[in-house]
Amino acid sequence: MDTKALHKISYGLYVVGSRLDGKDAGCIVDAFIQSTSAPDPTVILCSIQQNQTNAAIKQTGEFSISVLGTDVDPFVIGNFGFQSGRDADKWAMVPRKRAGELPMLESAASYLRCKVTGMKELATHTVFFCDVVDAWQGEGEPLTYGAYQKDMKAKVAEAFQAHKNGDRVPEGGKMPKSADASSAEGKWVCSICGYVYNGATPFEQLPDDWKCPVCGQPKSVFVRK
Ligand SMILES: Cc1cc2nc3c(=O)[nH]c(=O)nc-3n(C[C@H](O)[C@H](O)[C@H](O)COP(=O)(O)O)c2cc1C
Repeated sequence: MDTKALHKISYGLYVVGSRLDGKDAGCIVDAFIQSTSAPDPTVILCSIQQNQTNAAIKQTGEFSISVLGTDVDPFVIGNFGFQSGRDADKWAMVPRKRAGELPMLESAASYLRCKVTGMKELATHTVFFCDVVDAWQGEGEPLTYGAYQKDMKAKVAEAFQAHKNGDRVPEGGKMPKSADASSAEGKWVCSICGYVYNGATPFEQLPDDWKCPVCGQPKSVFVRK
């Protein structure tokens, strides 16, 4: 099977906003689709079970979607996608507004409010079946997952790294070596942030609890290019 065929399936990028124990929660997702449009719109979200956002959605049964635009600040993607709300107050780091109690980005291409009507557990993910109970227009054109992969991934890794170093750099800065896809051939690459492992220890010999130095995701998310 040529799994690269799956790379040609199109997605968007979204910030999910939810609440857990009275606090804001949320993360970046691409696995989100409209499932029906009539008589009422319904959507499906595929959420990683171990994430805080998954627990939040299960607790409240609802979430917001901020549809990311092509002009999104790359830091927003790193902030919501490269770290867990268990370790950082992600919503405090971006301008936000609310639909009821649910947090949403101040600026996005459009917004949805979704109510969970059913769910199915897969091996690693939960599939949430939802009604769209409200929707609003925002500004700009939606960002595609393909455009993120092609043009933004390095900027996102760079903006997040700069934030971690306490030194955020403006958009359009220099691409970090670790995220340069052209030098990744045959190497182990983080499937979340694009970091290319170049260490002296063979990747296979790194300890099981080793984590990506850029986004903190476990060794298991690395793939060989
Ligand atoms: C580009 C990108 C796409 C992602 N897509 C999904 C997704 O579809 N579903 C999901 O559950 N997590 C997805 N993630 C991972 C979560 O955003 C990430 O694990 C996050 O740190 C979880 O944070 P939390 O523990 O606060 O929920 C994606 C991350 C990135 C960077």
